[in-house]
Amino acid sequence: MTHSTVSDIDIVSDIDIVSDIDIVSDIDTVSDIAIVGLGVMGKSLTLNLLDNGFCVSGYDANPSTTDRAKQAIADEPDFAQRYLSCDQLTSLIQSLKTPRIVALSVPAGKVVDLVIEQLLEHGLHSDDIVIDTGNSLWTDSIRRAEQYRGQCRVFTTAVSGGEQGARFGASLMASGDADVWQQVLPMWHAIAAKIDPQGRALPALASGEPCAAFIGPSGSGELVKMVHNGIEYADMQLICEAYQLLKDIGGMSCAEIGQVFARWNEGALNSYLLEISADILQQTDPASGKPLVEMIRDRAGQKGTGLWTATHALESGSPALTIVQAVSSRASSAQVSVRLNLAKLFPGIRKQQDSSQDFIDAVEDALYCAKICAYAQGFSLMAITAREQKWSLNFAEIARIWRGGCIIRAAFLQSIAAAYDRQADLPNLLADDFFRQEIGKRQQKWRSVAARICEQGVAAPATLSALSYFDSMTEAVCSANLLPAQRDYFGAHSYQRIDQGEGKSFHFNWSDAVRSETERT
Ligand code: 6PG
Repeated sequence: MTHSTVSDIDIVSDIDIVSDIDIVSDIDTVSDIAIVGLGVMGKSLTLNLLDNGFCVSGYDANPSTTDRAKQAIADEPDFAQRYLSCDQLTSLIQSLKTPRIVALSVPAGKVVDLVIEQLLEHGLHSDDIVIDTGNSLWTDSIRRAEQYRGQCRVFTTAVSGGEQGARFGASLMASGDADVWQQVLPMWHAIAAKIDPQGRALPALASGEPCAAFIGPSGSGELVKMVHNGIEYADMQLICEAYQLLKDIGGMSCAEIGQVFARWNEGALNSYLLEISADILQQTDPASGKPLVEMIRDRAGQKGTGLWTATHALESGSPALTIVQAVSSRASSAQVSVRLNLAKLFPGIRKQQDSSQDFIDAVEDALYCAKICAYAQGFSLMAITAREQKWSLNFAEIARIWRGGCIIRAAFLQSIAAAYDRQADLPNLLADDFFRQEIGKRQQKWRSVAARICEQGVAAPATLSALSYFDSMTEAVCSANLLPAQRDYFGAHSYQRIDQGEGKSFHFNWSDAVRSETERT
């Protein structure tokens, strides 16, 4: 998500009540909400709120950012009547209805705390509401709700959809106190993306089901958004690998792959990320006349939310191989000089071209199955965290608000919502009948693609990891009977026996001449 930069925010010291309000035009009412941080996301949220008839006050510590927002608002004649540009926090706070609602659109981390402290210094009351809309770490949100209790009410709303989403309809994941949700609900429902009953996106300002929900207690909205981003990483990596397969084995041009993606986008794989990938691949570079994507350096950056998801999955014992792999793939892409040197040492295996429709269909099936696994990993991670935190998350609703506005919006989220509607405590998405059948129909082709990847040395680790996840999670008896024995052998860590109760553990005397087993007490 793009935010105003850290340098947008500095500590406001002097209070100048008289001169600090810059009324863009006559305003005859107090504002419904204030936005602090008018970078790309804050400005877009402001415009969206104005579009929906709300009165908004805006502040940014950087005067040029403030001016840019003012200009964008002045360009829309109706908006200026309902916008108040403030150059001090005191006036911003004074311009609001009570209890005051101040939404922060500032970078995650220390800046959020700095701005809350400033708002408190400049007159925010204990029943006023501060809404963090950034990509904050979910544990920070839990901490903040506690830390500022009694000084102000910290609520959060994770926003997905980038600049366009913030401006014309985002997916909103709110968390904190339920009564605060009731207060912000009219605004949040208005600025959220809307979808029709079939789960299709509706244009801005249309009426439909809003992609906004109250997720639960503090931190839960950020956890859900963090997992959304982890799935986003996996989804993007899997699409990149499908492109690589069609290029390396299929021998297809970028434009041809773009057309294939556009066709896939009309079926079960329909999603925003596939749609934009189809568009990207068909774009020519005006400077060189080559496909633009071929002129882009193969080095992926990251801001960190995918890494948070991967780390959290590992720490909470929730297998999320494809998400972890997607983060690692960005890391290996960044090691450009190492890759270039090693490529000289290992020139690779000559790829046997196969541009048959069968191969293209098999890659489509592999992408779809791998995508199901990535979502299964994300939903399982949310379920494990919810259990630990004693949150009661509504997974059907989470899938529903991800159908529109957000970056991972996809047709099959409708089927995920239906799966959790059928069984709210589904142990894994793969256990649902619909997804079981979907994978059943495609499993063989998925495996044939995996075999090609291995035989021909195509770097498609996320596609392989998804298959490994599938095989690990569907294996009745796995190899981890040998592992406790190994641990017991070198470290006397003990093991459990299948013919004894779960509570009992045993140690085997592996090295003495007379080998024997003892029960551990
Ligand atoms: C969204 C996106 C948004 C942003 C990520 C990108 O939901 O709107 O997920 O949050 O695209 O921050 O993250 P990386 O820079 O790490 O790819």
